[in-house]
Amino acid sequence: MEKKFIIANWKMNPETLAQAREILEGVSGFFSEVPEFNNSVVICPPFVFTEEVSKIMEMSSLGSRIELGAQDIALGDDKSLTGEVSGEMLNKLNVRYVIAGHSDRRYKLDETDEIVNEKIKIILRHEMVPIVCIGELKREEGYQNLLRTQIKNTFSGLSVDEIKRCLIAYEPVWAISTTPGARAATLEDALGSINIIREELGSETRVLYGGSVGADNAQEFLGISDGVLVGGASLNAEEFNKILDIAK
Ligand code: PGA
Repeated sequence: MEKKFIIANWKMNPETLAQAREILEGVSGFFSEVPEFNNSVVICPPFVFTEEVSKIMEMSSLGSRIELGAQDIALGDDKSLTGEVSGEMLNKLNVRYVIAGHSDRRYKLDETDEIVNEKIKIILRHEMVPIVCIGELKREEGYQNLLRTQIKNTFSGLSVDEIKRCLIAYEPVWAISTTPGARAATLEDALGSINIIREELGSETRVLYGGSVGADNAQEFLGISDGVLVGGASLNAEEFNKILDIAK
């Protein structure tokens, strides 16, 4: 099996630093048991825990097992963006991946395709890997066209090489566990959209699936994609370790 990406998006969780440490300790336990694990595991904590997670990784064997991600990035490095966190700051914390265009930001905070496009360029400029989320709000007539437009706008002006440096996560909003009535996409639905992404961006584009991924369905999604973006299930080390175990 090719190397897969298992990405944990903690969103605004957990509540305390102690809980964050506990999750990491739990995940560390997996690597003691499965030392030969050969996939990429990326943890994206909220910014307030990033420095601590970075330190824990530096001071333990976890540093060689997982990589650090961020959930967002500022639109510039000019230091006058109150409340934001710059690419420079992320670089200093050894962050290697940054999520861009998560649907939480697109739909709840009105982040446009143009902003996401700009953020991808900034992430690349800082030598980090953009994890770019793409996905429709609802599965309704014509959603494929919406998806194609979103992809075209989001990646506008990026070269083939730059797109190859990205990971694309197909995350339909209706499948994300926090959406009322959410259910994971069927494999057919997910594959249909993964194919649309590859048609638009190139057949070698690395595409992940996200939306209600858990230990019960990870095997199937890992079978049709380059990896999974895991939200809720990544906050429970036992469940997350099961997903890692499936990917091994
Ligand atoms: P979920 O979240 O796995 O809880 O559905 C995925 C995401 O929003 O990135």
